[in-house]
Amino acid sequence: MSLVTTKEMLKKAQKERYGVGAFNANNMEIIQAIIETAEEEKAPAILQASQGAIEYAGLDNIVAMVKVMAEKVSVPIALHLDHGTDYYQNIKCLRAGFTSLMFDGSKLPFEENVKITKKVVEMAHACDIPVEAELGQIGKMGDSDEPGVALEKVKETMADPYEAAKFVELTKIDFLAAAVGTIHGCRTPFAKLDIPRIEKIRELTDVPLVLHGASGVNDEEVRKGISAGICKINIDTRIRMIFTKKIREIIKMNPQEIDPRKLLGPAREVAKEIIRERMRVFGCSGKA
Ligand code: G3H
Ligand code: ZN
Repeated sequence: MSLVTTKEMLKKAQKERYGVGAFNANNMEIIQAIIETAEEEKAPAILQASQGAIEYAGLDNIVAMVKVMAEKVSVPIALHLDHGTDYYQNIKCLRAGFTSLMFDGSKLPFEENVKITKKVVEMAHACDIPVEAELGQIGKMGDSDEPGVALEKVKETMADPYEAAKFVELTKIDFLAAAVGTIHGCRTPFAKLDIPRIEKIRELTDVPLVLHGASGVNDEEVRKGISAGICKINIDTRIRMIFTKKIREIIKMNPQEIDPRKLLGPAREVAKEIIRERMRVFGCSGKA
């Protein structure tokens, strides 16, 4: 079917209390893996492109691939801009056919974040496209970062629930990505969700909540997060890890291999398995 927006998809998830996986679309094989698995699992799915992915693959190329593949399946697929830190990037994605946007002004002072987020929302809503925005700061693991130190650091930048409610009210965003304990890029699931904080935000505002950096969260914590109000769950690192691990294994077994398809095809298959597993944990399998 044609691409859908994330609005109805996440409202349904909120009502029925499950999470929709938002998987980063970094190349053709990963896009295929997400859409094929969504169809097999009868699950709604969000494919999201970061500014880095857009620069790598080309904006129109991403839109074209996702659109063509989504049209061939019967489950709802949305195309979302992930961490759009620029107002103009949001305009370009809207014009190119994205069905969901994100303005990430989390590094800006509150007032500045509100000001630009509001502008993005006004523009996107004029075209019936929903907008996600971020509050608090969801950090990123560096290669040499210690999990213990990272967890301490994360406590300093979590979103204040009252500020979060004010942010939603002032900006009229559709979904809120609040910093609630996760860190981007964790290679093991050591992060701890601040469940009371999620519940408080949920109590003060009714927009669906987004969990970033979910590669770093174990299944039990993810389920608790969903019960507390998380509806969209962003996963990138786990897919990258398993995808590249497979490629490395094949090269090790056959160093003479020169056919990229022999590397990327099996990597696509293992990506499908992790996506399938995540969809089942998030509870969105069978919800399309
Ligand atoms: O916006 C993207 C996500 O938050 C992905 O985070 O790479 O830690 O899974 P992750
Ligand atoms: Zn993120």
